[in-house]
Amino acid sequence: MAMDSFSASLMKDKREIIIAPTIYKFANFGEFAQEFSLGERDVVLTNEFIYKPFMEQYNLACQFVFQEKFGVGEPSEAMIETMYETIPYDSYDRVIAIGGGAIMDLCKLLGCKRPDTVHNLYFKRFPVEHEKEVIAIPTTCGTGSEVTNISVAIVKDEKDGQLTGGETKLGLVSDDIIPNKVCLIPDLLKTLPYKPFASSAIDALIHATESYLSPSRKTMTSELFSVKAMEMILKGFVMIGEKGPDARLDYLDEYVTASLYAGVAFLKAGCATVHGMSFPLGGTYHVPHGESNYALFGKILEIYDEIKPDGELMNFKKLVASILGGKPEDAIATLNALLEKVLPLKPLHEYGFKEEDITGFPESVMINQQRLITNSYVPMTKELMERVYRECF
Ligand SMILES: NC(=O)c1ccc[n+]([C@@H]2O[C@H](COP(=O)([O-])OP(=O)(O)OC[C@H]3O[C@@H](n4cnc5c(N)ncnc54)[C@H](O)[C@@H]3O)[C@@H](O)[C@H]2O)c1
Ligand SMILES: [Fe+2]
Repeated sequence: MAMDSFSASLMKDKREIIIAPTIYKFANFGEFAQEFSLGERDVVLTNEFIYKPFMEQYNLACQFVFQEKFGVGEPSEAMIETMYETIPYDSYDRVIAIGGGAIMDLCKLLGCKRPDTVHNLYFKRFPVEHEKEVIAIPTTCGTGSEVTNISVAIVKDEKDGQLTGGETKLGLVSDDIIPNKVCLIPDLLKTLPYKPFASSAIDALIHATESYLSPSRKTMTSELFSVKAMEMILKGFVMIGEKGPDARLDYLDEYVTASLYAGVAFLKAGCATVHGMSFPLGGTYHVPHGESNYALFGKILEIYDEIKPDGELMNFKKLVASILGGKPEDAIATLNALLEKVLPLKPLHEYGFKEEDITGFPESVMINQQRLITNSYVPMTKELMERVYRECF
């Protein structure tokens, strides 16, 4: 399939490192609120269960809005429409996102001019125009959304301009939606339960890996930021493998920093096959983002290793072996065994994936996820994708 013009434009982008936001680190929410003088023209989008323990005590005048009000889980067209209705555009000057990737992605939209419909925005029929300052504060250690130019939503799927009746996940991509400022407050991750912690940290590892292996778009970011992110995350996973889930609690600063590094890496080098193939899975069966990537990650690495074991993948295996021990030839198996200890892997059918999806999903990926598939370490075909889905089924 010929590359679409958007993917081609990404390939032509010569910039090596983009770190658009100014980045801060604070010990707690109070220090942040003081530094930024939060007030009534600020809208803070968060979850009630993050607000209560960390923010309520400060009695701030800002407009606190809880994502639960629009629905739970990952952003959808309906959720975004309700958010627009709940937060009138003229009621705020500054947007503050305090939450996981979903909340940060929603806040990127609050910073932009309102579109005619959310559907048109995601299908690039309405321009993205940034108008209000956005401050992103991640409370998971995964998406890197705080530094990226992407906002992901579950949208009604289209083929040749017609609705198919199904849903998929699409990334709205524009440098205009990169948050203006990022504040890392590791303290806020203390209440993150183990499962979303683990799946978000694995997501960050996948960002670092996919950008490291990105054949045509990798840049200095892969050498610097992907490598550092992989080292930090894998060291943390080794500690969890040895001491159990609570080992994460002394390492939250490293995790939230590593996921930001991985975000810097993939903003330029791009994510690839794992994300492309996980999007219909997440979109159709509402599998959380990190988990749907994890479901495919190990198998995709095994297939890369079978087809092209040398080249950049050999460097990746050497790096993994240097952290986890063992020989580079065994690094992918060792990595998959460690991840299994961090989060047990589930077969796709346990998420609701059906046998007909083995052939159906690759079609949707080829049409809608070109920007990701073009970064595949080995050229991605429908047949290879069918094999991945079948072997993960
Ligand atoms: N924009 C990007 O660059 C980018 C990249 C990857 C993924 N994404 C998107 O990000 C989303 C996934 O983000 P995520 O993995 O951070 O998950 P999430 O935002 O869905 O959060 C995971 C869960 O943890 C809870 N949670 C978050 N922080 C908490 C805390 N401190 N204490 C207690 N509970 C907490 C959330 O309420 C949620 O239930 C998806 O919608 C995905 O499509 C965006
Ligand atoms: Fe991701």
